[in-house]
Amino acid sequence: MQAVILVGGEGTRLRPLTFGTPKPMVPIMGVPFLARTLERLYEAGIRDVILPAGYMPQAITEYFGDGSRLDMKITYVIEDEPLGTAGAIKNVEQHITGPFFMLNGDVLTSLDLGAMIAYHKEKGGLGALHLIKVEDPSAFGCVVHDKAGRISQFIEKPPKGTEPTNEINAGTYLLEPEVMKFIPPGRNVSIERETFPKILADGQSLYAFTTNDYWIDVGRPEQYLTVHRDIINGTMPLRVEPGTNGSVHIGEGSRVDPSAKLGPNVVLGKNCTVGANAVLRDCVLWDEVIVEEGATIEETIIASRSHIGANAKIGKGTVIGHDARIEPRTVVPEGSRIGPSAPIAAR
Ligand code: GDD
Ligand code: MG
Repeated sequence: MQAVILVGGEGTRLRPLTFGTPKPMVPIMGVPFLARTLERLYEAGIRDVILPAGYMPQAITEYFGDGSRLDMKITYVIEDEPLGTAGAIKNVEQHITGPFFMLNGDVLTSLDLGAMIAYHKEKGGLGALHLIKVEDPSAFGCVVHDKAGRISQFIEKPPKGTEPTNEINAGTYLLEPEVMKFIPPGRNVSIERETFPKILADGQSLYAFTTNDYWIDVGRPEQYLTVHRDIINGTMPLRVEPGTNGSVHIGEGSRVDPSAKLGPNVVLGKNCTVGANAVLRDCVLWDEVIVEEGATIEETIIASRSHIGANAKIGKGTVIGHDARIEPRTVVPEGSRIGPSAPIAAR
């Protein structure tokens, strides 16, 4: 079985983090998100992965190469212009040899891919779509189906209050190659808005595979912090690298002054430094971040190589991009976005 993982989005909602790192390379407990996804595919026996990319692809290709380090085969297809979620798979059609998984590159879930294969075999049709129930479906694609699981309608991002169901497209599909016939080549096509409705209109079947798995789209800062909290407290089962003590994870080479107060839910990447009496709560720091003495940081994400001056106070909900410098004693208001204002070359 092959898998296509969509990794070409610009990660707009994660800016300024994604000005320095494309969304699939954003670290989850210190390891690129995409590496976590590949690990899950590997466990399901999948070795052949195709990555339609476009935004900062070199950061992805440099890290994963041809996949041999992971005992996988990775094929990259780079889009000059974003082709959309269906255009991206049409563009890799020549690499597809049979039924294949298609995954949104920003979803973390405990979904059992083997169970999904079995479900698709049982139901037939052109594909099975993983669905999940959420409290606010308006931010996602709503999917309506009958008792047998046969899908009748797709409503992408319905206005709040008009959602026909709380079951949403969870971004993992198992598709038959015939789906390609429904995608016109050479232009931007959305699978959710255009291709899936077209398949239904043609009288073909798509089936809903609804589960209660852990599921999150890490495409927004709040979700990014939530996912770390969920991994730390075990809500999301994920094997993490050593370095976790209680609700604090300290990456390789990071040094924390004994008088600093860390936790709950703090993740430090590699080679960070935290000075005396600093206070960190509910935050994720990437690599080589320096926090000077007495700084207070809460519900904040800080990208690599940023520097937080002594006694600075960082308000909740702040996102700090790469290489930022916060001067000593600065009070950063809640919800601030600080960092580069355009893509910087990935290092
Ligand atoms: N290669 C490529 N080209 N990838 C793309 C493109 C493109 O033009 N556009 C988006 N992607 C990738 C993104 O990187 C992401 O991994 C995935 O496709 C989905 O795009 P998002 O921009 O994150 O979509 P969304 O979160 O608003 O909505 C989608 O996901 C929801 C679940 O998280 C839809 O599929 C919804 O129906 C769904 O509920
Ligand atoms: Mg998304």
